[in-house]
Amino acid sequence: MSVTILAIESSCDDTSAAVCKDAKILSNIMAGQLIHSAWGGVVPELASREHQKSIVPVVDAALQAAKISKYDIHAIAFTRGPGLIGSLLVGVSFAKAMALALNVPLIEVNHMQAHILSHFIDNQPSFPFLCLTVSGGHTQIVLVKDYSEMEVIGETLDDAAGEAFDKTAKLLGLPYPGGPLIDQYAKLGDKNRFQFPEPKAGDYNFSFSGLKTSVLYFLQKEKKLNPEFVEQNRNDLCASIQKNIIDILLKKLSKAAVNLGVQEIALAGGVSANSELRVRFQQLGLDHGWKTHIPKVEYCTDNAAMIGITAYYKFLKQDFTTQETEPLARYSL
Ligand code: KG4
Ligand code: ZN
Repeated sequence: MSVTILAIESSCDDTSAAVCKDAKILSNIMAGQLIHSAWGGVVPELASREHQKSIVPVVDAALQAAKISKYDIHAIAFTRGPGLIGSLLVGVSFAKAMALALNVPLIEVNHMQAHILSHFIDNQPSFPFLCLTVSGGHTQIVLVKDYSEMEVIGETLDDAAGEAFDKTAKLLGLPYPGGPLIDQYAKLGDKNRFQFPEPKAGDYNFSFSGLKTSVLYFLQKEKKLNPEFVEQNRNDLCASIQKNIIDILLKKLSKAAVNLGVQEIALAGGVSANSELRVRFQQLGLDHGWKTHIPKVEYCTDNAAMIGITAYYKFLKQDFTTQETEPLARYSL
């Protein structure tokens, strides 16, 4: 018998619903929230309200695109955490109500596990592999031993890689989220023009808050000499900042992969949409003889398809939850 799952993701500022039939994604619908760009970052209260508006139309669109009726659904999956509590509550409450109405089981999913299992959409990495998960909220190196057995071996001590992109972009006067814009301008710039320091975080851990501070001081100094400095050097600044972040990420990943002796490495999370990171990640694999995995861009940023694929593996183990479940802002792997 095949299994049809409706999956819902609402952990941050994207409302998404997907339908999967076994490990195959039939639809993956997304509603972004442009409202936050005016505020320079995600405003939690506004995010919850936007989810509330979008969730019904997004779920309807996912069912339609998959060409199924709600009566074809065998289980409903949702993101339990980590994320913004008000945002999570909308998805969790919706999933509970729909599961109750349809009398089907509920499956709760950890968002970080889902970013990793997004690799099993149209692909099949071999265990064990090492996954670098880089998003707006998290930066982790995870040793993936099985669909459910994962060990975080390094993580950020302060800002996430996505925040490093977004916060430095803000210093350059770019709107939120600045990561994709840095990526775009960096293509036209000289990445070796400006040097920023490398943080000292032990083992396989990361630290990105120092980059933001050094860019801030550097810009303050330069702007005193030339008020047009940022405008005149934007592309080189973007390329140099991007290089600094990617150097840090790949150095740690490479060290971990060598020491743990893995043969396959994977990249996940919103920052893995970065074009330079994708190229250099693949080159790292070629240099060391490691097989590399990067999901399609639509499965890198937050999406419900990754919740659906994770739920499918949980369904196979009959790993269901109850109506008593509640969202978790912090939820470790
Ligand atoms: O995984 P995601 O969609 O949401 C979270 O769970 O946080 O990641 C969003 C992050 C944002 O910080 C955004 O700036 C960053 O991913 N991002 C990028 C690119 N596309 C998205 N950063 C650098 N280059 C990109 N092309
Ligand atoms: Zn995410």
